[in-house]
Amino acid sequence: MIVAGNWKMFPGPDPAALAARLAGITGVDVIVCPAYVALARCVEAGLTTYAQNVHWETEGAYTGEISAPMLLRLDVGGSLVGHSERRQYFGETDAGVARRAQTALEAGLGVIACVGETQEERDADDMETVLRIQVDAIRDACGVHDRLVLAYEPVWAIGTGRTATPEMAQEAHAFVKSLLDRPVLYGGSVKPDNADELLSQPDVDGALVGGASLDVESFASICEAAARSHS
Ligand code: 13P
Repeated sequence: MIVAGNWKMFPGPDPAALAARLAGITGVDVIVCPAYVALARCVEAGLTTYAQNVHWETEGAYTGEISAPMLLRLDVGGSLVGHSERRQYFGETDAGVARRAQTALEAGLGVIACVGETQEERDADDMETVLRIQVDAIRDACGVHDRLVLAYEPVWAIGTGRTATPEMAQEAHAFVKSLLDRPVLYGGSVKPDNADELLSQPDVDGALVGGASLDVESFASICEAAARSHS
């Protein structure tokens, strides 16, 4: 079980307070993904820390980007790639996401690669086609890498309070795993009150939490739910 908190462009909780609250929880790999400026503080607090993105080159003239070796020098353990907000607002493509994942893995980082369909795509019955295109790009670049984790984040469930039902999540996760056999986290309005149900699904291997990861207590209770589902 893995629970990752994506703080997005929010300051997030105090890393030391969060680390203290999480200290007693066992059986779950907890990861925080703060903004770049808070990476060092999270590492110093003893939290397993991932960036929210990483570039596909190790250095170069890429204003505004951060490379895998830079993250490694900060003792950052890995990075998200392909978050739907990167795809939606910053024009990231399947090919670019795959290259980011590949470079990060080759450098020694862990990767959580995000995939998921929009409401329009689901309504048009295109969910499997979209997931297949997204996952195939990652698989072709990275293979079945042991530091690669996937996250299924239906875009319509992100920040909307509309969670996929446990059955919908299970179905999508099983499909993603049939394409690339790695752990799959669920993301999209995961909260303390729906975490048990979602995490008890056989192919849901953890959660990628946005809004609820900004509050120490709610994030900790999702981690506790993951610990319960594991035991
Ligand atoms: P919310 O939990 O706020 O819906 O965000 C999910 C997400 O995008 C995590 O990466």
